Amino acid sequence: MKFFLDTANIDEIKRINVLGLVDGVTTNPTIISREGKDFETVIKEIAQLVHGPVSAEVVSLDTEGMVDEARKISKWADNIVVKIPLTEAGLAAVHILSKENIKTNVTLIFSVAQGLMAAKAGATFVSPFVGRLDDTGTDGVKVVADLKKVFREYGYKSEIIAASVRTIGHVEAVAAVGSDIATIPGSLFSKLWTHPLTTNGITQFMKDWENFKSK
Ligand code: E4P
Repeated sequence: MKFFLDTANIDEIKRINVLGLVDGVTTNPTIISREGKDFETVIKEIAQLVHGPVSAEVVSLDTEGMVDEARKISKWADNIVVKIPLTEAGLAAVHILSKENIKTNVTLIFSVAQGLMAAKAGATFVSPFVGRLDDTGTDGVKVVADLKKVFREYGYKSEIIAASVRTIGHVEAVAAVGSDIATIPGSLFSKLWTHPLTTNGITQFMKDWENFKSK
């Protein structure tokens, strides 16, 4: 499974990127707004730092507006993927953009049916929102698992990005059901390599080593 960072924070991206763990970055208008910087500037900066796909979302709600924005955003760097919301207008935009070889990430997917529509329209990536589904009492991981099964069965090429991932359990579960990618916020990323038993183990080893040396 590939790991994307779900952030527009440059320091966070730099910190985790040096570990060789970042295969791409996803953003959305909320994530961008937290940084208080110009959209184009921050996306260009991220696209230079990270070699993999960098998702930048349109804010138009009509097909023509989405396509215009997507054509512009996709020129900012070679690794840009344009994020489009799953609406009727969005599907039409994805269909047009796929014929122009502009890569898309269809976002705000909450059902297998929506994922199928996005794949059929020509999405490069589809993003089911695991955490937000769990919030409504629906099993988000199951939507990822079912979508993966359906894509395999019918040979759809779209890659699944498990989004709205909030816990270590989410990461492990979406990996186990074959999600192609999980996009993870920076605060959760550092928890993935941390374990109290590792910390305690190091403390004990160091203590025993010091005792041994002083004998
Ligand atoms: C990523 O593509 C999504 O925008 C993001 O994972 C949403 O996460 P949230 O539900 O925690 O806002």
